[in-house]
Amino acid sequence: MHCSLVLTASLLVLTLLRLTPAASAAACHPDDEAGLLGFKSGITADPSGMLTSWKKGSDCCQWFGITCLTGSRVTALSLVGRPGNLTTSLSGKISPSLSKLKFLDSIYLQDLNNLTGPFPDFIFTLPNFIIIYIENNKLSGPIPARVGNLTQLIAFSVEGNRFSGPIPSSLGNLGQLSQLKLGGNRLSGAIPATLKRLSNLTLLSLERNQLSGPIPDIFPGLTSLISLSFSHNKLTGNIPNSLSILAPKLRFLEVGHNSLSGAIPGFLSKFQALDTLDLSWNNYTGPVPKSFANLTKIFNLDLSYNRLTDPFPVLNVKGIESLDLSHNLFNFGSIPKWVISSPIIYSLKLAKCGLKIKLDDFRPVQTYFYDYIDLSENEITGSPVQLLNRTDFLVGFYASGNKLKFDLGSLRFAKTLKYLDLSRNMIYGKVPKAVSGLSKLNVSRNHLCGALPPNKFPAASFAGNDCLCGSPLPPCKA
Ligand SMILES: *[C@@H]1O[C@H](CO)[C@@H](O)[C@H](O)[C@H]1NC(C)=O
Ligand SMILES: *[C@@H]1O[C@H](CO)[C@@H](O)[C@H](O)[C@H]1NC(C)=O
Ligand SMILES: *[C@@H]1O[C@H](CO)[C@@H](O)[C@H](O)[C@H]1NC(C)=O
Ligand SMILES: *[C@@H]1O[C@H](CO)[C@@H](O)[C@H](O)[C@H]1NC(C)=O
Ligand SMILES: *[C@@H]1O[C@H](CO)[C@@H](O)[C@H](O)[C@H]1NC(C)=O
Ligand SMILES: *[C@@H]1O[C@H](CO)[C@@H](O)[C@H](O)[C@H]1NC(C)=O
Ligand SMILES: *[C@@H]1O[C@H](CO)[C@@H](O)[C@H](O)[C@H]1NC(C)=O
Ligand SMILES: *[C@@H]1O[C@H](CO)[C@@H](O)[C@H](O)[C@H]1NC(C)=O
Repeated sequence: MHCSLVLTASLLVLTLLRLTPAASAAACHPDDEAGLLGFKSGITADPSGMLTSWKKGSDCCQWFGITCLTGSRVTALSLVGRPGNLTTSLSGKISPSLSKLKFLDSIYLQDLNNLTGPFPDFIFTLPNFIIIYIENNKLSGPIPARVGNLTQLIAFSVEGNRFSGPIPSSLGNLGQLSQLKLGGNRLSGAIPATLKRLSNLTLLSLERNQLSGPIPDIFPGLTSLISLSFSHNKLTGNIPNSLSILAPKLRFLEVGHNSLSGAIPGFLSKFQALDTLDLSWNNYTGPVPKSFANLTKIFNLDLSYNRLTDPFPVLNVKGIESLDLSHNLFNFGSIPKWVISSPIIYSLKLAKCGLKIKLDDFRPVQTYFYDYIDLSENEITGSPVQLLNRTDFLVGFYASGNKLKFDLGSLRFAKTLKYLDLSRNMIYGKVPKAVSGLSKLNVSRNHLCGALPPNKFPAASFAGNDCLCGSPLPPCKA
C-alpha cells in the first residue's frame, strides 16, 4: 500500500504538470473539436453530466477534462469517475474520431464503469502517445500486438476491463515504460519473457487474470522495479532465483493465490526494502527460512493457506502492521513472543495455527491499534472479555471453532466492531442488545439461552444453541 501510494503520488505530479493550462488559450483547433464531439456522440449515457460543457462552437480547450498544452491543440483527455459510483459512469464506446486529435498524447478514462468495445484502435494513428490509463471499464477482446509500436509510452494501464487472450510479447518494445498494469482482466497464457527488456519499469501488475506456467526469468532486466503483483493467477513452479537481483529496491511483492510450490526461497530475507510480502494461497511446503528474522522492515506479511511447517523463525519485526499465518500445518502451541511484543500490529490472523492458550493470558503489549483478530480453529480456552475490553478500534473478531467458555452478556463491544464470529465454542448466557450494531454475527453452536434482542441476522447465525428464542428463531414461549 505504502508503495503504491508513492507511485500514485509521483504520477499525480506528472499529471498536474501536464494539466497546467496553456498560457494562450486560443479557440481550439476545428479537428480537435470535431474529434471530441465525435467521442461525445459515442457516449450513450452520462448521468453526472461530465460532458455537458462539451458544446460545439465553444473553446474545446476549456471543456471539462480537456488539456491543451501546445497552443490550441488538445494534448490530454482526462475523464475520471469515482470508483464504484455509477452516477459518475459513462456508457458507450470510445469513438475512433479521437484520431483527429493529432497532438493527443495522454488519455485517462478511469472508473467510468461502462465504456465497452475493443481496445481503441485510434491510438495507433498517434504513435507519440505517452500515457494510457483506461481503467475499470468494460473494454474487451485482445490487447493488440500493435501496442508494441507505441514506443514513447511511459505508462500503460488497462487494469479492470475484460481483455482476454495472451499478453502481447511486443510490450517488451516499450523501453520507456515505467508502469505496466494489466490486472483484473481475463488474460491467459504465459507471462512473456520479453518483459525483461523493460529496464525502466517501476510497477508491474498482472494480478487477477488467468496467467499460467512458471514465472519467467525476467528480473535481471527489471532493475528499476519497486512493485510486483502477480496474485490471483494460475502460476506454477517457484519464484526464480533471479528475483534476488531486486533485493535493494523491491518494496511490494505479491504472488498470492497461485499454485506456486516448493520451499519459500531463503533469498527473500535479503529484501531489505520489502514492506509487503504475500505468498498466501499457494502450495509452499516446509519451514519458513530462519533468515526471515532479517526482514525487519516488513509491514505486511501474509503466508496463509500454504502447507508450511514448524519451527517458525523468531521475527524481529518492530514495524509489522499486518500478519497472517493462518491455515498452514503449524503447531505453535502459544502465540509467538515477537507477536505479543509487536508495538503497532493491527491485523493479526492466526487461524488454525495449533494454539492451545487460555485467551485471558493473551496480553499483547499493545491492543490499541488492533482492528482485526482471527484466532479461529484453534484449541483456545477461557474468555476474550479482557482482550476485547482493551481494544478501541476493533472491527472484526473471529474465534470460531475453539473452546471458549464465558458469559456473552459480559462482552464489551467496541463502537467500531462490525464482524463477530464466535460459532462452535462453549459460550453461555444471553445474546446482548449490542449485537444489533454489527454487520455480521455468528454465535451458532454454543450454549446460549433466552430471548434474542431485535436483530437483522439470519437464523443460521443463532442455530444450535441451548434455548435461544425470538426472531429469526421461533417465538419464545410466554
Ligand atoms: C456519486 O457521485 C455523485 C456525483 O459526483 C455524487 O453526487 C454522489 O454523492 C456520489 N454517490 C456516492 C454514493 O458516493
Ligand atoms: C451500460 O451500457 C449499456 C449499453 O451501452 C446500457 O444498456 C446499460 O444500462 C449501462 N449500464 C449502466 C449501469 O449504466
Ligand atoms: C506495428 O506493429 C505490428 C505488429 O507488431 C507490425 O507488423 C507493424 O510493422 C508495426 N507498424 C509500425 C508502423 O511500426
Ligand atoms: C530510463 O529512464 C531514464 C531516465 O530516468 C532515461 O534516461 C532512459 O532513457 C530510460 N531508458 C529507456 C530504455 O527508456
Ligand atoms: C497443492 O498440491 C497438491 C498435491 O500436490 C495438489 O493436489 C493441489 O491441487 C495443489 N494446490 C494448489 C493450490 O496448487
Ligand atoms: C541476517 O543478515 C546478516 C547480515 O547479512 C547475516 O550475517 C545473518 O546471518 C542473517 N541472519 C539470519 C538469521 O539469517
Ligand atoms: C474494562 O475496562 C475498564 C477500564 O478501562 C474497567 O473499568 C472494566 O472493569 C473492564 N471490564 C471488564 C469486564 O474487564
Ligand atoms: C456460522 O458458523 C457455522 C459454524 O462455524 C457455519 O456452519 C455457518 O455457516 C455460519 N453461519 C453464518 C450465517 O455465518
